Amino acid sequence: MARILGIGNVVLDTQLFVNTFPIEDSEQRAEKRLFAIGGNVANNLQVLQQLGHDCALCATLATDNAAKRLKNALEARQIDLSHIQRFIQGSTPTSYVQINNQNGSRTIVHFRDLPEVDFDHFAKIEIEAFDWLHFEGRNLEALSGMLNIAKTFLSHQPISIELEKPRDGLESLLTQVNVIFTGFAYAQASGFQTATDLIDHLQSCAPQATIICSWGSEGAWYAAPGAMPCHQATQALPKPVDTLGAGDTFIAATVDALIAQKPLAEAVSAGNQLARRKCQQLGLDNLLDPLVTRKPIANIKHITNSRATVVPAPGLQHKVVLIKHDNEVKAYLNNCPHQDVPLDEAYKIDINPFEMTMKCSVHDAFFRIEDGVCVEGPCWREELTPVDLEIDPETGAIYIAEQ
Ligand code: FRU
Repeated sequence: MARILGIGNVVLDTQLFVNTFPIEDSEQRAEKRLFAIGGNVANNLQVLQQLGHDCALCATLATDNAAKRLKNALEARQIDLSHIQRFIQGSTPTSYVQINNQNGSRTIVHFRDLPEVDFDHFAKIEIEAFDWLHFEGRNLEALSGMLNIAKTFLSHQPISIELEKPRDGLESLLTQVNVIFTGFAYAQASGFQTATDLIDHLQSCAPQATIICSWGSEGAWYAAPGAMPCHQATQALPKPVDTLGAGDTFIAATVDALIAQKPLAEAVSAGNQLARRKCQQLGLDNLLDPLVTRKPIANIKHITNSRATVVPAPGLQHKVVLIKHDNEVKAYLNNCPHQDVPLDEAYKIDINPFEMTMKCSVHDAFFRIEDGVCVEGPCWREELTPVDLEIDPETGAIYIAEQ
């Protein structure tokens, strides 16, 4: 187990799952909406924590609702938030992500109006207490100073950096780091056709560094200091479910293997494997669980129209509420859009058979059973997230539908 400090961004991701990628100036309904922790370094740490490390996040948060949600979600995942810098003005960074159900691709629009971590804040952290520091290659105003003090005060702890997008002055700081993570997007934006061309270039900026360049479904290239680039392929994935955060997972699993002193080729292969595993599931939670074999979540015999049945659903981020409506079983994530809490957090979910609504026990939001729309209460017009089911006609077993 290592203590790892990640310095970068944490953002609230709003993920919309769509069946076809939208055409400009068109309309469509999303199949599902999820809120999740995002931001590269926050994602790295969520995975490293699952891999058994103690992780602390150095990033900025505002004091808005998004910040509250993120704080709760990060604490629930045991990420140490004592090095977060808070700002009273501005809003917590948010990203709006469209995930295409056909191929798991993710298209992201960011909204940012919060300053990033400043040098003075970072300088107060006792960085010697950590075994590994990982930086996002951003925040150029403060990054140079941060890397300087890290290099000055750390004796044996590796410093890694992720280069996701080229930024003015970034490459001149690379002499300060031990490991550089980069990838396809950086190569493309800097005009390199191949991973080996990019590695050659980065070796000239940072001859002391190990360079690891991930290339999506083609795996990754890597080079130890002064060595020629090598390649680790990854197995093709017929139908990715969700690729958001796959690159972040790759970095986390590679860092984990490097901490365990595995040879570089093995570390990169561990990165590839966990990134591939991530693409087979929604979100980053429970990444180390074996892939869920299909098990029924309930049986139709036990579902009525007078009572909401709440059942765990492996692979989903919340439990599922099941209820009969017009001889059909309706299913929604057990998560009130008002405050991101389970509908049965305070009491059971009350059903009104005349209005055909069900009530969130926390703040009395009434949702239409038919389509999950809130018809009265604090999140009026917002919707519960529907869950697609498959029901075995012979046994009545209810399954979460295959993506
Ligand atoms: C994925 C991700 C998302 C976030 C965005 C931030 O790598 O971290 O979670 O929206 O990238 O750049």
